[in-house]
Amino acid sequence: MNYKRLLELILLNLDEGIIVTDANADITFYKEPATNIGGLDSRTAIGKNILDVFPGLTPETSTFYNVIKSKKPIIEHIQHYTNFQGKKVSTVTSTIPIVENGEIAGCFEVFKDLTQVMDLSEKIMHLQEQLYRSSKRKKEYNVSGAIYTFDNIIGESGPILRLKEKAKKVAESNSPVLVYGETGTGKELLVQALHNANLKRKNKPFIAQNCAALPFNLLESILFGTADGSFTGAKNNPGLFELAHGGTLYLDEVNSLNTELQAKLLRVLQDGVVRRVGAVGTKEVDVRIIASTNEPPIELVEKRLLREDLYYRLNVIYLELPPLRRRREDISVLVHHFIEKNNKHLSRRIKGISEEAMKIFDEYSWPGNVRELEHLVESTMNLIDKDTIDLDDIQHYFEKRFKIASLDTKPPSEDSPVKNLNEAVYKYERGLLVKALKASKGNISMAARTLGLPKQTMHNKIKKHSIKLTKEID
Ligand SMILES: Nc1ncnc2c1ncn2[C@@H]1O[C@H](COP(=O)(O)OP(=O)(O)OP(=O)(O)O)[C@@H](O)[C@H]1O
Ligand SMILES: [Mg+2]
Repeated sequence: MNYKRLLELILLNLDEGIIVTDANADITFYKEPATNIGGLDSRTAIGKNILDVFPGLTPETSTFYNVIKSKKPIIEHIQHYTNFQGKKVSTVTSTIPIVENGEIAGCFEVFKDLTQVMDLSEKIMHLQEQLYRSSKRKKEYNVSGAIYTFDNIIGESGPILRLKEKAKKVAESNSPVLVYGETGTGKELLVQALHNANLKRKNKPFIAQNCAALPFNLLESILFGTADGSFTGAKNNPGLFELAHGGTLYLDEVNSLNTELQAKLLRVLQDGVVRRVGAVGTKEVDVRIIASTNEPPIELVEKRLLREDLYYRLNVIYLELPPLRRRREDISVLVHHFIEKNNKHLSRRIKGISEEAMKIFDEYSWPGNVRELEHLVESTMNLIDKDTIDLDDIQHYFEKRFKIASLDTKPPSEDSPVKNLNEAVYKYERGLLVKALKASKGNISMAARTLGLPKQTMHNKIKKHSIKLTKEID
């Protein structure tokens, strides 16, 4: 196999566009993404300088020129320019230097079309603005966007009751809040309840933004807004901090913000003012910030995914949602709650769940927490035509999951008698550890949580069993 041809075929079949240049920024390889954003074919492009094919760029603004000069990559950079055919386009690009023996030999850029995403994001910002303006005019403040209150948080276990009590106490405060909970534990529910319990804010906007959902530059303009004529070429737009003025801004998966944006967020928290991207002046905003993570915040700080200074500023009020497997008393309460809810929505009259079926619910680990339980009850109720959920109706769901759980970790069967109990227990434990580590893709903290072990104990056990993370987990 000719590897050069193979590599070329792989590059030609990628969705992204690719440009390779030499050290003078002259193009040696060119491939458009599917949307043909650059507006030229590879024959026209090869041999030309990058500034000849992108006439709107200069040596100062071209990522190629900058990377060749600095020898440092520029990752996920958003660019707006006029293409070869005179059309205004936006791309997100990653430009990487090619260094051979310490010398710059050229660079390559991977680029994706963002034109439609940018158009959509501008439309969303515009609509959001209109929505809040019109709700203000009509004084219908409950269009805040938050529908849940503390009454919607179902559960009678000690941890949930204590959490609700603490949350109610801090709802009226303006201090930032940090919420931690695994996926599906009800973070959004809790955050909305906090907003609605704040008398001053409940009739003002509630805006939620997932920080992992968008590339950084786009997120920056969505959060902070953009000023007219700024280098992004964007219009004058308020960001979410301004749109949430008087209300609450919920930043989900806050650790997904890069260090720069985390620093910018810290500044807003400290000074109470925002500066739109490209603007000179600042604007005062009164927004309560609630941030959340689905990994323990302190571990994110240790892994340098959450800035320590931001952590301390956000952590003024800390609320932790326990996973469902740590509050098993709530399982049955939630099952009955969701049966009632679906009886209304689906116009059904299901009375309850059999004892055998409930036993499986009680024993299962619920990695997807309340969301998983809610979906299982709903999908089961859609399929059955009796008035009780029985073991038969849900067995197939758990069979698959318990089978995975017992893989490699089955205790020795009765017909293969155990010769040495210690050895059998040792093997069984090892199997469970490997399985949990496989499921967490080698993430030790996550595996420790699944097994209900402190992180240090997990480390000790990995050592004791000489588990090689790279070899045995893949
Ligand atoms: N205590 C609860 N009582 C009733 N419903 C709940 C409870 N906790 C969660 N839910 C429901 O479970 C689903 C998931 O909750 P939510 O979206 O708030 O979770 P999350 O922690 O934000 O998850 P993710 O991290 O995946 O975004 C929602 O439909 C929510 O209404
Ligand atoms: Mg959520």
